[in-house]
Amino acid sequence: MIRSTFIASGAYLPEKILTNADLEQMVDTNDAWITERTGIKTRHIVAENEMTSDLATKAAQQALKNANITADELDLIILATTTPDNTFPSTACKVQANLGNKTCPAFDIQAVCTGFIYALATADNFIKSGQYKTVMVIGADSLSRIVDWNDRGTCILFGDGAGAVILQAKEQLGTNQDTGILSTHLYSDGSTRDLLYVDGGAAQTNGEVGKLRMLGTEVFKHAVSKLVQCSKEALEHNDFTIENVDWIIPHQANQRILEATAKKLKAQDKLISTVRDHANTSAASIPLAINSAIHDGKIKNGDLLVLQAIGGGLTWGSCLIKI
Ligand code: UT7
Repeated sequence: MIRSTFIASGAYLPEKILTNADLEQMVDTNDAWITERTGIKTRHIVAENEMTSDLATKAAQQALKNANITADELDLIILATTTPDNTFPSTACKVQANLGNKTCPAFDIQAVCTGFIYALATADNFIKSGQYKTVMVIGADSLSRIVDWNDRGTCILFGDGAGAVILQAKEQLGTNQDTGILSTHLYSDGSTRDLLYVDGGAAQTNGEVGKLRMLGTEVFKHAVSKLVQCSKEALEHNDFTIENVDWIIPHQANQRILEATAKKLKAQDKLISTVRDHANTSAASIPLAINSAIHDGKIKNGDLLVLQAIGGGLTWGSCLIKI
């Protein structure tokens, strides 16, 4: 069977860094509270004239360089974002133009913090069907643009950034010893949409984009159980146990969620965490964490990774991939 194999990754974080001390000057908060409740110390914030497509383009260019291929060799670009530059055209089309590819299909996926898993699943199905061979999957967000900077319950949590991976078709045996994406597992429950949402949008508020609203404690309760459920499902689906896994790479929302989930999976020593430095970068957090872990020499060829995410919708999902 055809599998989607991992070829390379790339990442980009905006230059400006916002510390917990900076936030103390903006809202009624303090470094001790943020550190204890979230594990976050710093987040990167886009510059005045910088947009999601700029972050995504830089991450994609780095991934192309690391893969040693040109933009012309891409058959498809999928970009997961909740903060597109414009309502339309898609941010993926802007990135395609920036990269210099003039023909391949390019589109955005909107599943908030689960966006990168949804995008990977979509890319994987295009590859497995034989329709496309080389696919760029990007997660990019500028959540700082839609955060309410007067709401201390949310503004301390988010940051901006982009990560990209390139997947390529490879004929394999079809066993759990194959490399590449072994399976993806996607979920949503729109009846819980009021737990995490933006209070505006093109159709609802006549073009006013709106601000992010969240019932944090409620989302927290859903997060751990749903992340554990979809991660276990990915392992069982492929006849693996947690002992076979090298790394758990969760969406980076809150260190307490990451640790509670890893503990329930009995994989505390396999947790990749970048939330301290990056905060919650929504669709970008997983590819940013993958890229960091490769750069740090943690992830090596042949490693088995469980990717897992939850976000607005609620949406959640997992992906089992052997690098
Ligand atoms: O990416 C999508 C998924 N999103 C998530 O996974 C986020 C999930 N939720 C969370 O991470 C946590 O719920 C938060 C970090 C948002 C909040 O932590 P919490 O332990 O659930 O705190 P809380 O909202 O129950 O607030 C506890 C107290 C409250 O004060 P009182 O009512 O006990 O007096 C808040 O007003 O902490 C207060 N508080 C703060 N204090 C200092 C809330 N935000 C802050 C703050 N600084 N920034």
